[in-house]
Amino acid sequence: MINRREFLATIGLGGTALLLAYSVPLEAKFKKEVMAMPYTAKDYSKLIGIEGFSETLLKNHFTLYQGYVTNTNKVLDTLEQMLKEGKTGVLEFAELKRRLGWEFNGMRLHEYYFENLGGKGGINKVGKLAKKMAEDFGSYEAWEKDFKAVGTMRGIGWAALYQDITNGKLINFWINEHDVSHPAGCNLILIMDVFEHAFMIDYGLKRADYIEAFFKNINWSAVETRLK
Ligand SMILES: [Fe+2]
Repeated sequence: MINRREFLATIGLGGTALLLAYSVPLEAKFKKEVMAMPYTAKDYSKLIGIEGFSETLLKNHFTLYQGYVTNTNKVLDTLEQMLKEGKTGVLEFAELKRRLGWEFNGMRLHEYYFENLGGKGGINKVGKLAKKMAEDFGSYEAWEKDFKAVGTMRGIGWAALYQDITNGKLINFWINEHDVSHPAGCNLILIMDVFEHAFMIDYGLKRADYIEAFFKNINWSAVETRLK
């Protein structure tokens, strides 16, 4: 038995090629039904000008995000079509179902990310989030140290603060790529993109400097509203 990667390599199709193969007949359909597309890319251009993030870096990042929105719609539409045509038992259906988590989370996580940027002035130390951090980590500073340590781990992915809604506990997680390692039953509070595209244009390999810039721009009031 071969695994998924081997299957894709064997048939010479990467995920994108597979997607394109099925999306070709849908192009015309998209043009007709563009208003029915379930997801629309949000406009985050108001972030342009924030300290420590160049316009070039942000615009590239917005474009990448828009690609996830487009692909999420394409994957969902293709899967819907395959269901209607009774093609659920084929390998292509299974591969697109696997890909959906990547594209959807690529879209949604970037929305959380851009929406938790654009703030100034640091966390309100007497606010409910800072108090909860102190409760769960000992102090805000201890939480920040832990979160930054997650962000500087080798590899590409996300540093994410989650709240376990079963007991309210705050936990920092390393999210490996978009669709792996998210804790079930938890609510996303704060997320930091540490894929190379998020910082290399401005910082090269100096990821720690990017993380400092990220912290200067966290929109803590938006973040705090995510707390349950
Ligand atoms: Fe990103």
